Amino acid sequence: MTTGWFPVARTTEVGTTPVPVGVGGQAYVVVRLRPGGEVSAFPARCPHRLVPLAAGSVVDGRLQCPAHGWRFDSDGRCVDLPSMGPHGTPPPRADLSMPWAVEERHGWVWLAPERTATHVPPRVTAAPEPAPAPPDPEGAAFDNLDPSLEHAWHPVALSRELRPGGWLQVRLLGRNWTLRRDGDALVADPPAFGVRERLGLIWLAPSEPADVPLEVPEDVDRRFVTDWMQPVRSPGPAGPLADTFLDATHGPFVHAATIGLPDQAEVGPAPVTIEPGGFSSVREQWCDNPLDPEVATGGRPLRQRRRTTYTYRAPFQLRLRQDFLDSGATTTILYLLQPEDLDSTRIYVVLLLSSGPGQPLPLRADVSGQVALQKRILEEDVRSQAALAVPGLPLDPRDEVHVPADRLGIALRQALCDFMVVGRRQQAAA
Ligand code: FES
Ligand SMILES: [Fe+2]
Repeated sequence: MTTGWFPVARTTEVGTTPVPVGVGGQAYVVVRLRPGGEVSAFPARCPHRLVPLAAGSVVDGRLQCPAHGWRFDSDGRCVDLPSMGPHGTPPPRADLSMPWAVEERHGWVWLAPERTATHVPPRVTAAPEPAPAPPDPEGAAFDNLDPSLEHAWHPVALSRELRPGGWLQVRLLGRNWTLRRDGDALVADPPAFGVRERLGLIWLAPSEPADVPLEVPEDVDRRFVTDWMQPVRSPGPAGPLADTFLDATHGPFVHAATIGLPDQAEVGPAPVTIEPGGFSSVREQWCDNPLDPEVATGGRPLRQRRRTTYTYRAPFQLRLRQDFLDSGATTTILYLLQPEDLDSTRIYVVLLLSSGPGQPLPLRADVSGQVALQKRILEEDVRSQAALAVPGLPLDPRDEVHVPADRLGIALRQALCDFMVVGRRQQAAA
C-alpha cells in the first residue's frame, strides 16, 4: 500500500493527451478530460484487454481506450461499451479502480494512490522530486517462449524462401535454426523432431507435436486461387495477435481507415463449437459486397448475406472463411504465426479466393486488390499490437474483463490452456 501525496507531472505537461506516470510501483495516466479542465488520474491499463490507456484519447469528456472504444468518465466508470450497443449496461467490473485523489498544487500534479490523513498535497518550498518511471506490466501470461510451444508444428518460412540446394536461418522460440533443402529432403540444424512443407510453408516441430493441424479444404479445391502476402513481423507475442484476428469488436477503432464501419460497433455473442485442438464459430450477417461484379450491373443488391466461419487450432493457426451466400463467392484467409522471440512474431497470411461454383476463377487484378487490402488491414493490427505492449496473453479469466462479444477470445484462452497442459505433460514424459 502506498500512502501519501506524490508529485507525478508538471501541470503544464498535462493536457488532453494522457501522460503515463508512476507512484510506488503502480502505473497511472493523468489527463484533462476538457481543454483547461481539472486533471484526472486513471490506472494505466484498460481492464478489458489490459491495453495501455496512455495510447487512449479524450472523446466527449471521456477517456476512450484505443482498442475497442470503452469510455471512462472522471470517476473511472465505464459509461460506454460499444460492443454492447447503445442500450447495453457495462458490467461493474468494467469500471476502473481509481487512485484515491489527484490535485494540482505548486505547478505540479499530485497523486494520492490510497486514502491519506491529509486531504491536500503538502506545502513545498523547493521543486519536488520528479515521479519515478512507471513499472513494467506484471502478471503471468502465455508468451512466445512458453515451454509447451516446443510441442507443436510452427511455420518458419515460405516454401519459396528456401531454394533447392540452399539454406536459410530462421528464428523460433528464442533459438536459431538453419534449414537446408537437399533434393526432396528438408533438414534442420540443430536437429528437430520434424521439418515438413504444407500450405506453401515450411513447418518445424522442435519436439514431438501435440497440436492438431488446421484443415484447409480450399487448398485442394480447384475453384480457388491462392496468393501469399509478404510475411510481416509484429513486435510482440503471438497470443494477443491471435486474439485480435478472432476479435470482431476492434474494427471501428483499429480499422477505421479500411474496413471498420462505426455503425458496426455492436456485436452479439458468437456461437463456439469446441473441436479437437481448438474450436470453430459460424455466424451469418448482412454486409456490403462491393467486390461482387453483379452489384455494378444491378444484378444483385449491395447488401448481401454472408456466412463467416472461424476455425482455430492451437497454438497459432487460424482460418477465416467468408461465404457470400447470394453470389456463391468465397474469401478464405489463413493467419499462421511463428513465435520467434518474446518480442517478435512473424505473420504469414494466405488468401484463397473463389468466384463460386460454375464461375470462372477470380481475375488476377481482383486477387491483387484483395491482397493489397489485407496488407493494409494487417498493418493496422500490427501497429495496434505495438501500442499494446503486453508480454503475452493472460490465461486467467480474472486478469481481464470479458463481455458477451468476447466468446471467441475466451475460447482461445481455454484452448491455449488445454494446449499448455498437454504440451507440458508431454515434456514431463520425455
Ligand atoms: S476496450 Fe480497452 S482493451 Fe478493449
Ligand atoms: Fe484486426
